[in-house]
Amino acid sequence: MVLRIDRRRLVMGGLGLSGLLLPAGQALARQLTAATGFTHNVASGEPGPDSMLLWTRYVPMNEGVTRLEAEVALDPDFAKVVAGGVVRTGSYRDWTAKITVDGLKPGTVYWYRFIAPNGERSPVGRTKTLPEGKVDRFNLAVFSCSNLPQGLFNAYAHAAARKDVDLWLHTGDYIYEYGIASTREADWALGRKEQLLPVTEILAIADYRLRYASYRADPDLQHLHQLAPMVALWDDHESANDSYEAGAQNHQPDKEGDWNIRRAAAMQVYREWMPVSDEPWKAYSIGTLATLYRTESRLLARTKPADLGAAFRAADPDAALKAFRDGVWKDPAATMMGSTQESWLAHKMKATKGAWQLVGMGILGRTVMPKDAVDWLRPEVNEKKVAGYKNNIRAAQQGLPMWMDRWDGYPAARSRLLKAAQTADADLVMLSGDSHNAWAYGLMEDGQPAGVEFAGQAVTSNGMEGDMGADPKVVAQGFMAANSELKWADTSQRGYMMIQVTPQRVTGEWLFLQTIKARSTALSGSHRMSVERGRRVFTG
Ligand SMILES: [Fe+2]
Repeated sequence: MVLRIDRRRLVMGGLGLSGLLLPAGQALARQLTAATGFTHNVASGEPGPDSMLLWTRYVPMNEGVTRLEAEVALDPDFAKVVAGGVVRTGSYRDWTAKITVDGLKPGTVYWYRFIAPNGERSPVGRTKTLPEGKVDRFNLAVFSCSNLPQGLFNAYAHAAARKDVDLWLHTGDYIYEYGIASTREADWALGRKEQLLPVTEILAIADYRLRYASYRADPDLQHLHQLAPMVALWDDHESANDSYEAGAQNHQPDKEGDWNIRRAAAMQVYREWMPVSDEPWKAYSIGTLATLYRTESRLLARTKPADLGAAFRAADPDAALKAFRDGVWKDPAATMMGSTQESWLAHKMKATKGAWQLVGMGILGRTVMPKDAVDWLRPEVNEKKVAGYKNNIRAAQQGLPMWMDRWDGYPAARSRLLKAAQTADADLVMLSGDSHNAWAYGLMEDGQPAGVEFAGQAVTSNGMEGDMGADPKVVAQGFMAANSELKWADTSQRGYMMIQVTPQRVTGEWLFLQTIKARSTALSGSHRMSVERGRRVFTG
């Protein structure tokens, strides 16, 4: 039985009378842990020109190791099965199953399903292999930051209704690790609180598994996965906020145990539940049109972000900020990806010269806090936060960025990446998320254009509008005036991005939803920008 939660907080299918007498959250917990059969639909990923990874989850009645058959056909009725295989699963991997099928044709739509030993069949999924050779057009939808209690996944629903998408790209924060108490009650969307399980922050393997099980009971997310392959990379919240190799802002070893154990649990469960391989990073060739990169910049090599805090407490903060700027901030040993991945990306960009280089990752664009930002804050913003903004403005006067957790906190590594793109003569297009708001950056290195960045707004997670009460147009203008790389911004709306790739240009469109607090796919607007081949700056 596929688990789906409808928007009226009821659990559909198989919820007995005893379940109806329980509070919704407990009823869902009971159902998620007791469900048998194909509990969470199907998904696909790791697309190739002749292969695809297929995913499902199947819990047998008898709890033993089970064996599933996968079938791939050219039609949804499976009149002609053209590929398939068999795969085992068990409780050791939370009953999730992944199989990579080969022998497929490029640029082709396939239908797939799994069959259990008792003959039970999974829902049918649709997927599409990557094209080969010359490609005229390729469309990706880009998502990030889907905090379940903060909103309905209307962005997924809107994208799923499109007919023009070849691939989903999720740049991370697919789940959040927080307990429900960490989200302000005012930010909860109706009915979503009861859907978040467990109710506390996730720390151990069982917690991470239940969190994915609850997110993936969302019908819009399930439907999205069912319709097209997804390339997915984790950001920080798939483990813990502001994570790096050795720890995280939201991990307290004295109370929450060894970070290495939690980090390993987060990575294991991500790979169980997502349609991804165990390869830490990967490149996908979209014929000769583009190379798409799945990168890793959180858990395997990232060094601890530099901390500005001490500079503000110094006797002479401005002198301390200058020393920080010229010292620890520029440390070449600070890294997001680690030298092995940096080298791989540099080589791969050279090796696929002539193709668009589409890199999925966190924000590269340089962003300092505008000097007027305090004037834009809502009156209810507390003193501590106001002091934080004032500190960021003070740092900006010394040329220091507002986000130390992003590439801005790793300027030497950022330079290496952008120089590698320039050396490779690459048409670099960064596709990112992470900030919850929408940004377009023209990336510069050594005074020369190095590529562009389409940074997408969150599916549901709160953005800057939580603090900023001023007209978003004023906020955007202020940010652009203070930041030469920033070419456009929207600081208040949720949604997703569509990226259309053609040989001549890449066009990004930010699509904004009217609401995430009620079920709706109505748009409030959109914004388009494009980059022409060989220009490395926004041209329209
Ligand atoms: Fe996020």
